[in-house]
Amino acid sequence: MREYDFIIVGTGISGLSFALKAASHGRVAVLTKRSPETSNTAWAQGGISCVADPQDSFDAHIADTVDAGAGLCEEAVVNTIVRSAPAAIEDMIAQGVNFDREANGNFSLGREGGHTQRRILHARDTTGKEISEKLLAAAMREKNVELLDNHFAIDLVTTAKLGLKEENRIVGLYALDEANDKIITLRSDRVILCTGGCGRVYLYTTNPKVATGDGVAMAYRAGATVANMEFIQFHPTCLYHHDLKNFLISEAVRGEGGILIGKDGNEFMAAYDPRGSLAPRDIVAQAIDHEIKRTGGPCVYVDIAHRGKGYIKERFPNIYETCLSIGIDATKQPIPVVPAAHYQCGGVKTDIDGATSIAGLYAVGEVACTGLHGANRLASNSLLEGAVIAARTFEHIMKHYEPAEKTQSYNVPDWISGDAEDVDELVVIYHNWDEIRRLMWDYVSIVRTDKRLKRASTRLQNLRREVQEFYWNFKICPELLELRNLVETASLIVKSAQSRQESRGLHYTLDFPPSNSPIPPQNTLLTRDPVSL
Ligand code: SIN
Repeated sequence: MREYDFIIVGTGISGLSFALKAASHGRVAVLTKRSPETSNTAWAQGGISCVADPQDSFDAHIADTVDAGAGLCEEAVVNTIVRSAPAAIEDMIAQGVNFDREANGNFSLGREGGHTQRRILHARDTTGKEISEKLLAAAMREKNVELLDNHFAIDLVTTAKLGLKEENRIVGLYALDEANDKIITLRSDRVILCTGGCGRVYLYTTNPKVATGDGVAMAYRAGATVANMEFIQFHPTCLYHHDLKNFLISEAVRGEGGILIGKDGNEFMAAYDPRGSLAPRDIVAQAIDHEIKRTGGPCVYVDIAHRGKGYIKERFPNIYETCLSIGIDATKQPIPVVPAAHYQCGGVKTDIDGATSIAGLYAVGEVACTGLHGANRLASNSLLEGAVIAARTFEHIMKHYEPAEKTQSYNVPDWISGDAEDVDELVVIYHNWDEIRRLMWDYVSIVRTDKRLKRASTRLQNLRREVQEFYWNFKICPELLELRNLVETASLIVKSAQSRQESRGLHYTLDFPPSNSPIPPQNTLLTRDPVSL
C-alpha cells in the first residue's frame, strides 16, 4: 500500500492546477488511465471565459451564465467563479500558458454563443492544448508530484466500504497498474476526482476516447450524491464526415462571423432565436436537430468563407488544416456539421470548494456539479470552473489540514482477484459498448420522450446485469472498467432524465413541451446507500 497526502485522478486543467498547488505541501499522486496528454482539456478549442475588456463587466458575464443555465444556476457559485477568473488566468500565465494578444498587448478576445460580449481568451483554436502542455510541463518539474500514467482508478475505498461505523470518509482507492498488470492500493485521506465527463456514452461525441464517465460512476458507487445528470450538452457543430468523427468546429467560428446554413444554402437560425447562429447551445442544437429532420439532410453547414483565407488560416489554423486534410477548404466552402455530445453539465455534487458528500472526497471540473452551469453551460465557462475550483479546493483542504501522524490510520486490504479468468473475447465488451452508445443516441439525446427513456432504461438494466457478471467473472482490464463505468453513467443519465417532468435547458422532452414550467427549478439528486455497497 502506497500512501500520499493527495491523490488526484485526471490530468486535465483541474487535476494539474490542483497538483501544482499541492506540490509544495506534501506527496501528490496524479493518476491517469492513459498518457497525461490525453484529456478533454487538451481537446478544448474555443478558450476560457474571463472579463478582460473595459466594455465588459462581471455582472454581464454572470447574467449571461445565469441566462444560459435556464433557472438552475446557483448564483452565489456563478458570482464567485466569474469574479475569480482574472486571478485564475494570472496563475496560468505564471505557469507559462500563452494566450493570444493584440498588437497593443491586450488579450485577443473571442466571442461564443450566449455571451453578450467578447470575453474568450484563447490560443488560436487550440487553447486546451496550450494549457494542458504548459501545466503538465510545470507539474513534471515538481519533485513531490508522482505521475502515474496508465493507472486506471477502479474504485474508491471509504470507511463505509471497510464496514466501519463512522461518517463515510475517503481512505484511498484501488487502481489497475497496466504496465505491471496488477491492482495496487493507494492510501490517502484526500482524493480529488478530476476525471472529466462522459461524452463516450453517446454514439456521436466531440470528446476523446477517455471520456467514459469514470469519476461519476466511481463516486456514485462509493455513496456520493450525483446531481443533474440529465443535462448533457450537445455541441451544435461537430464535423460531419465519415472518416473523421469527433472533430469539433469551434463555436468561436460562429463567434467570428460563421453562419449556420441548411442544405438549401439559406441561413435558418433567425427563425428560432433572435441571436441567430450565436444563440446558446441548447437552442442551436435543438434547431439543427429540427432542421435535419425537416429537410431530411444528413447535416447542416457552417460558413465562414467570407472572412477570407488569411484570417481563417491565422485564427483557426487547426480547423483549417484538419478540414483541408479531408478535402474541405473552409476558405471556399461551408463546413458540414451535426450536433454531438460534448459536455456533462451535471456530475458529482460539490460545494464551491469542491467538497462532495463523502468527507475527504473532492470533485473538480466536468466530473463535478458545482451549480455553475445549471441546466445548460455557457460556452468556455468550463476551463474557468476547473481552474478556479481547483484553487479553492486546495485552499479549503489546507484550512483543515491535519498531518498524517495526527489522523487516524486505516488499513486498506489488498484487492483480491480470486479465480477470475482473462476476458477471452473482447468482442463481448465492444458489443455492449456499441449497444449502450447507440441506444443513448437514439433514445436519450437532444429530443427525448417518456417512451424512449423507458426503453433505454429497460435495455440498460439488462446490460448492467451482464456487465456486472463480466466484472465478477473476468480479470479486470481497461476495456471492462470503461464499460462498467459507461453503463453506470448512462443509467444515471436516464434515471435523472426520467425524474425531470419538464423541458428545461438541455433536457428537452416532447411529453412536457417547453413553457414556463410550473415546477420550481430544482436539482435532480441521486445517492446510492453506501451500506448496500
Ligand atoms: C468550442 O470551441 O466551441 C467549445 C467551447 C466550449 O465547449 O466551451
